[in-house]
Amino acid sequence: GEGDVARFKRQAAERAVEAIQPGMVVGLGSGSTAAFVVHRLAALRAEGKLTDVVGVPTSVGTEELARASGVPLTTLEEHPVVDLTLDGADEVDPALRLIKGGGGALLREKIVAQASRRVLIVVDAGKLSPRLGTRWPVPVEVLPFGWRSQALFLEGLGARITPRWGPDGALYRTDQGNFILDCAFGPIERPEQLASRLEARAGIVAHGLFIGLTSELVVAGPSGVELRRP
Ligand code: A5P
Repeated sequence: GEGDVARFKRQAAERAVEAIQPGMVVGLGSGSTAAFVVHRLAALRAEGKLTDVVGVPTSVGTEELARASGVPLTTLEEHPVVDLTLDGADEVDPALRLIKGGGGALLREKIVAQASRRVLIVVDAGKLSPRLGTRWPVPVEVLPFGWRSQALFLEGLGARITPRWGPDGALYRTDQGNFILDCAFGPIERPEQLASRLEARAGIVAHGLFIGLTSELVVAGPSGVELRRP
């Protein structure tokens, strides 16, 4: 049957979906935890609940899943302000700063999070970390133009770089057609400072550090489901 981690993800997702109110515009995150959110929302719709809720998908993958599940979708063009976003994360520190982008959707996820009144991050307890970078590299999305120069720049900041590969044996392409460099920094002393350095560099399109974007965290583990605020 379902493994422990999958069960925790599902339990956290089901709790997070309780925050959705009728009529809301809801940001739909990417990854396996966010998929549980979409499935739960679809199940509630089948019971005739939350039928007027519309979703803003953060990736082509989530868009396809939502369509297949019958969850109605909208865009940031139609709704530039999102009421509530539910999304997963790869690593969460005690201040609820995040590393995201393990699934490659970091740019759209960050755009939707920044456009949201409220962001609920939904994780299993295995994602909790004393310091960002301990468990996970920081994904950095770079333009194909000049990407090797960005790799050298990132090495200069102290990262060990692994370009991400796609299933087809070519470099992975994001939904925007860019590359991802997974940057292992090890435990990051000052995530804000690193974020500013990455944001100052032309050719770096996005990075997976999400700082000041989490309104609440829903975390599920062996001791149950818990809500945390920064
Ligand atoms: C997608 O780009 C990521 O930011 C996801 O939120 C992250 O990888 C979490 O994935 P799981 O929910 O599958 O663990």
